Amino acid sequence: MLELKDVKFSVTDAEAPDGKAMRMIIDGISFNFERGKFYAITGPNGSGKTTLARLIMGINPTTSGSIFFEKKNITTLSITDRARAGIAYAFQHPARFKGITCRDLLSIASGKTDEDELVEIIKRVGICSYDFLDKHVNSELSGGEIKKIELATTIARNPKLAIYDEPDTGIDLWTIEPMVYLLKKEQEKYNTTTIVVSHNRTFLEAADSILLIRDGRIAYTGDMKGVEPILMDLSLCPFGEFLEGGKNAECFR
Ligand SMILES: Nc1ncnc2c1ncn2[C@@H]1O[C@H](COP(=O)(O)OP(=O)(O)OP(=O)(O)O)[C@@H](O)[C@H]1O
Ligand SMILES: [Mg+2]
Repeated sequence: MLELKDVKFSVTDAEAPDGKAMRMIIDGISFNFERGKFYAITGPNGSGKTTLARLIMGINPTTSGSIFFEKKNITTLSITDRARAGIAYAFQHPARFKGITCRDLLSIASGKTDEDELVEIIKRVGICSYDFLDKHVNSELSGGEIKKIELATTIARNPKLAIYDEPDTGIDLWTIEPMVYLLKKEQEKYNTTTIVVSHNRTFLEAADSILLIRDGRIAYTGDMKGVEPILMDLSLCPFGEFLEGGKNAECFR
């Protein structure tokens, strides 16, 4: 239902002597995501996971390659048109908005205004309070609360394709399993194609297929058993003082 064909994204390398050299962030990714399946995207920090998610949502334009959604070429479509087509993206770092309440965001996402129905939505992400609806989406919300509201608004849209960028970041440990359960339930009930960017084992184990991204390329696709040894090998620069013998990690350029 979502097909990436040799998708690339590059930026000008600020450190290049002529200021023109390009740095490849996504380096030729091709993959076919099937309808109704649950995918986990993982990989080291800075490997390109968020960038790939942003390319699918249209937040960043592809440098080359094509993206097809339900057989339609959406490579040049705007974010709004992709959202209309049924793609939703929950940000790794959700924006905070001045003057906007949780009620506003949830109403826009769900098309509902009834208070009981809105509380039903936030109950699904572990928030159970009518007062919460009138909280502003600014510093009135903690880091974890804002991630939960982001999750709730994405689910409320009932998208065909839902992309969650590290939904568990900043979330208390006890909420992660219920969150995985919630996203699996949504996937099964509505046949939602689900892509979760995560470093968390619970998400990786729940996935039908894991994509390991390294240096902007797919280094592996498969299950947890196959990805685990590769992930162990990827600890390029372990925290220095914990290295065997107390030796500092060597830095690389
Ligand atoms: N527009 C841009 N301009 C310059 N560099 C960029 C741009 N977008 C992404 N990058 C760089 O591309 C690399 C990949 O970034 P990205 O956010 O996709 O990583 P990630 O895999 O999501 O990492 P994390 O696990 O830390 O969230 C980073 O080094 C980042 O600085
Ligand atoms: Mg990221």
